[in-house]
Amino acid sequence: MKILIVNGPNLNLLGQREPEIYGNRGFESYLQQLRAIFPAIEIQYQQSNIEGELVGFLQAAEGSFDGVLLNAAAYSHTSIALADAVAAISVPVVEVHISNVFAREAFRHHSYISKYCKGIVAGFGLDSYQMGIYWFLTQALRDQ
Ligand code: DQA
Repeated sequence: MKILIVNGPNLNLLGQREPEIYGNRGFESYLQQLRAIFPAIEIQYQQSNIEGELVGFLQAAEGSFDGVLLNAAAYSHTSIALADAVAAISVPVVEVHISNVFAREAFRHHSYISKYCKGIVAGFGLDSYQMGIYWFLTQALRDQ
């Protein structure tokens, strides 16, 4: 199984950025842990601060990955282009947020992409990604 993690703007600063909200750990270090937890899954990772590049990552995932975990960060709350990209591909996408966006500012309560995602995992810190991967794994085992 191949899973693509796509992280949006400012998530390259994890570990330094607002640690009281996003924690002290950089994503690369967490990624190593994820790969160790799921040795049978090929986990690839892309990050960009640029909306159009994120659209490109999603388009390129079609036919190449079994699933996508998308943390579009602030673009979740603003981007019709990313919502259209998720709607345009048939590879299942799980929306991920590190923080519980519903416990934060009102502008974070709406996501343009949620409607087109299989589901949403939010609020479990970096473990939100791990929980998203469990869903893909559960699906794959069920389909065996
Ligand atoms: C975030 C939540 C967004 O509201 C915010 O803009 C982010 C990160 C999260 O993972 O909790 O950059 O997606």
